[in-house]
Amino acid sequence: MNANTVLDRLWTIYTTDNPAVQKVHDTFINSGETVVNDHIAFRTFDNPLINIDILSVPFRNAGYIEKGEYHFKQKKLYAKHFEHPDNKSLPLVFISQLLTSEFSPFLQNIVKKTVESIPKKILQSDELIYSCNSWGIPSYEIYRELLKESEYAAWVYFSGFRANHFTVRINHLHQLDSVEKVNSFLKEHGFKINSSGGEIKGSPELFLEQSSIMAEDIEVQFQEGKFKVPGCFYEFAKRYPLPDGSMFMGFVADSADKIFESTNFKK
Ligand code: NI
Repeated sequence: MNANTVLDRLWTIYTTDNPAVQKVHDTFINSGETVVNDHIAFRTFDNPLINIDILSVPFRNAGYIEKGEYHFKQKKLYAKHFEHPDNKSLPLVFISQLLTSEFSPFLQNIVKKTVESIPKKILQSDELIYSCNSWGIPSYEIYRELLKESEYAAWVYFSGFRANHFTVRINHLHQLDSVEKVNSFLKEHGFKINSSGGEIKGSPELFLEQSSIMAEDIEVQFQEGKFKVPGCFYEFAKRYPLPDGSMFMGFVADSADKIFESTNFKK
């Protein structure tokens, strides 16, 4: 499958289940902007059946190669990013995984049971990245328990495999050519910006500036009934050239660390 087919399918799931991200996209388009994706991101657990190496298969099959790796000590995450060496117009792919051995036996057991409940035909196929939650209706009680240990674990538990966010590359916008302008524009249109560590993460000196909206609360069917929980979000990134003149195409771990909090549960 070529990369654009994979991305189109992921986009459809992302926008169908999260009306707010479609609204962000349309708001840019309606104001005459061109939306080009900088990167898309996935979340998973470090279980060998669903880890980064497995989730990256459809992208590697489409020509992507592994580039950088990142450690998030506090959130107990590890991530890699992939890029397509021949087609720079394709978004980067950022995949993180939770280091489950650093969490409680409860969390580890939930992850184990979750993985065991994924149908085999999905596990061993390219369908995994689109499969969302294939392990059955989640329990709200377990979701709330997981939240106490890791917002990330709770999100993956109910949400499953899907693009967690797409990212607008600000360099390709015409009028909204800075993160400040993008943030003001979004706030004017009623979106809430993730302010963890400040509304702008990174700096020109780090060659990358980022911001994101807080994930919209979506209604999810749990075993105990329907509850509103944070779904997916949209991110915005402006890249700067390195001293050698080439564009910085990596990520800044300290900034990504704060972006993860865009799906935090609103108490
Ligand atoms: Ni991102």
